[in-house]
Amino acid sequence: FKRKSAILVLLWITFCFKPAQKFFFLPELGPLSGAVGGRVKFATTLSPPERPFLSVSWDFKGVNIITSTSTNITEPGHTNRISLDRATGTLELRNLVLEDSGEYRLTIIPDRGLQRMGRITLNVYVPITAATISSPAAVLIEGQSSTTLTCEGSGSIITREWIKDGHHLHLTDSLNLGMDNRTVFIQPVLSSNHGTYQCRVSNPVSSKTASFHLTVNYGPYNVSIIGPSAAWPGHKVTMQCIADSVPPANFSWSFNGNNTNVKTSTFVIEKLEPKSIGNYTCTARNMVTMKENSTILDLRGKMIFIGHAFIVGIKIGLVASFSSCSAFLLYTPPRLQMICIF
Ligand SMILES: *[C@@H]1O[C@H](CO)[C@@H](O)[C@H](O)[C@H]1NC(C)=O
Ligand SMILES: *[C@@H]1O[C@H](CO)[C@@H](O)[C@H](O)[C@H]1NC(C)=O
Ligand SMILES: *[C@@H]1O[C@H](CO)[C@@H](O)[C@H](O)[C@H]1NC(C)=O
Ligand SMILES: *[C@@H]1O[C@H](CO)[C@@H](O)[C@H](O)[C@H]1NC(C)=O
Ligand SMILES: *[C@@H]1O[C@H](CO)[C@@H](O)[C@H](O)[C@H]1NC(C)=O
Ligand SMILES: *[C@@H]1O[C@H](CO)[C@@H](O)[C@H](O)[C@H]1NC(C)=O
Ligand SMILES: *[C@@H]1O[C@H](CO)[C@@H](O)[C@H](O)[C@H]1NC(C)=O
Repeated sequence: FKRKSAILVLLWITFCFKPAQKFFFLPELGPLSGAVGGRVKFATTLSPPERPFLSVSWDFKGVNIITSTSTNITEPGHTNRISLDRATGTLELRNLVLEDSGEYRLTIIPDRGLQRMGRITLNVYVPITAATISSPAAVLIEGQSSTTLTCEGSGSIITREWIKDGHHLHLTDSLNLGMDNRTVFIQPVLSSNHGTYQCRVSNPVSSKTASFHLTVNYGPYNVSIIGPSAAWPGHKVTMQCIADSVPPANFSWSFNGNNTNVKTSTFVIEKLEPKSIGNYTCTARNMVTMKENSTILDLRGKMIFIGHAFIVGIKIGLVASFSSCSAFLLYTPPRLQMICIF
């Protein structure tokens, strides 16, 4: 009697507390993605039963696409596009079209036990085959011009992402993104906006990236001369003028306020003479922004006198003929050296 009641309790639990239908599957969380023309498999987590299922049936948007019992009934629109693994209920769908997007439901009636159900959502996308960035043709000058960059692509575009010079685009007061990230608004353009922009257009099954080089004319900024502050007479001296400028700056050099004919970025003195000691001015000029700026290098000469103390005395007289000589003595017996920077 005890055993009988125990079985009754078990049956009672089975029927009252277990849901009448059992949901199982499906391997991936969230929706599956497919490409138009491609294929997708709705794999169940079921293992083949000892006795084949009585019925395996798939429905999509309220329409039965296949019911497999002792015979197979396939919806005409799906013939030649589906394969059913009757042992597990797994369905493969081929030659996908956009209209295949939606929820698929599976109902299985096993030979024994409860009916089982499963569902999965499929999203079908048109693969992205091209992406382009366009921008109005114009000469852009820092602080004066404004522009836009527009990203377009073909296919089902789900996301658009912008990258500048390899980093995620940084939004500022003057650089904003429009709806859907389609357009970058730059108002006004700044020197920091100069560079290469990329737009990555994507959906879960494909992506394309377009590149665009944006030229912002600016500068010249940070004009400086790379060269020695003092050099030995008779030696070659090379001075190079650099400027941060788009387009590259045009240079001109003047010496002690007098123009030279040098228009290159480097100024070369083949042999330093006392008369070539003085102030070298490099002027950088941007032919698009029409701005210019300059910097000065005060080039000094160095001299060394080697001899005994009394000779140095004589030489000092000679040195004194040059203006503003800052001299210092270096005594390494038996030599006394005098270095003069003037
Ligand atoms: C029904 O389809 C399944 C899977 O394609 C196949 O194994 C089975 O033989 C088919 N049954 C009939 C009666 O055609
Ligand atoms: C827009 O860009 C941001 C930043 O890159 C990104 O997080 C977001 O997903 C994008 N939105 C769309 C609709 O592409
Ligand atoms: C000028 O140089 C400074 C220091 O190197 C730097 O911080 C600044 O960004 C430069 N300016 C431009 C416009 O390049
Ligand atoms: C500026 O420099 C460019 C390139 O070096 C040169 O073609 C152009 O003639 C120069 N313009 C002037 C006004 O010197
Ligand atoms: C600079 O020009 C002035 C006037 O033309 C001239 O007297 C002077 O000698 C020049 N200086 C140099 C260093 O060429
Ligand atoms: C060079 O410039 C400095 C400061 O600007 C000035 O003191 C000096 O006299 C100048 N040298 C010559 C040779 O003009
Ligand atoms: C030239 O450069 C100096 C130093 O960077 C700056 O103070 C000055 O404003 C600049 N002048 C022009 C006309 O850009």
